[in-house]
Amino acid sequence: VLRTPFTELLGIDHPVVSAGMAGGHTSVELVARVSEAGGLGVVGASFMQPQDLAAHVGHVRETTDKPIGINLLLHAAAGLLDDTLSLEPAVLSTAWPRDDQDLAEIFRKAHDRGVRVMHMVPRVEDAVQAAEAGADVIVAQGFEGGGHIGEIASIVIVRQVAKAVAPLPVLAAGGFVDGAGLAAALALGADGVLLGTRFLATDEAPCEDVYKQAIVASNGDDTIVTTVADTFTGRDWPRSLGTRQAHALHRAVARSRTGAPPTPRRRLRPARSRRSVGGGRRADVHRPVGRCDRLGPAGR
Ligand SMILES: Cc1cc2nc3c(=O)[nH]c(=O)nc-3n(C[C@H](O)[C@H](O)[C@H](O)COP(=O)(O)O)c2cc1C
Repeated sequence: VLRTPFTELLGIDHPVVSAGMAGGHTSVELVARVSEAGGLGVVGASFMQPQDLAAHVGHVRETTDKPIGINLLLHAAAGLLDDTLSLEPAVLSTAWPRDDQDLAEIFRKAHDRGVRVMHMVPRVEDAVQAAEAGADVIVAQGFEGGGHIGEIASIVIVRQVAKAVAPLPVLAAGGFVDGAGLAAALALGADGVLLGTRFLATDEAPCEDVYKQAIVASNGDDTIVTTVADTFTGRDWPRSLGTRQAHALHRAVARSRTGAPPTPRRRLRPARSRRSVGGGRRADVHRPVGRCDRLGPAGR
């Protein structure tokens, strides 16, 4: 048990959060196991239908009664806000708003339901804005992160944000990976870490083994920052937050340029949970089948 203002706020044991990664990356097993283990598991809800989100969260709750979060990419998924809040997660996790979205109004709606707000930012001015709008926790995300990222290095942005919004709890995101990363984050003034890529390489993540192995085998030199994924999905990310680029394994990108068709959309089909968590009963869950990479698995 490691107590920080973040763990105290949520009443959890460990200052470790699994990122709410949209597009089917956060299986019932992953979210439930992280929360059951004393961290905070977060559902990546952004491209789910409301009824699927409700079913997904219901299955998580069949396996753990610990706090969970639900993440919305605000520019794309604000329409899910009311459905999300009606599920009363402990935490509404938000990121990537458009300029015309009113953070204070969104955060107030969450607070009205007794839901805490954890907002992710790539720049210090965004952190100050979110703090003024009433966020309870700020996630400072650096360039080293997976998925869509800002332009500032993690070691820089985490320190800047921790100083700018103190005493608000801050989580560090972007390349923190393990216990050493957590220690580094605490040294920078953060109160915990939010991890994405590392959790995609766990048994509980709904990714193919080849993709998990590519993450583990990566030397860090085989990633690229690119807009290719968004070209394929046609999603327009807010420009005001700096780069709209995403961090990916570049073998996957190269593969998409050399003839092998990318598969930006995964099929969803009912699947059976491979294992129960915390002694809960086995549950039918909706989870993505197959790859865990918008561009196709690296190494194939
Ligand atoms: C595949 C993938 C999908 C992601 N999707 C989201 C998302 O939907 N919402 C969000 O706020 N962050 C998303 N992120 C970013 C994470 O929240 C987090 O900032 C990042 O993974 C931290 O860096 P790390 O991967 O080095 O741990 C995603 C990250 C990855 C790797």
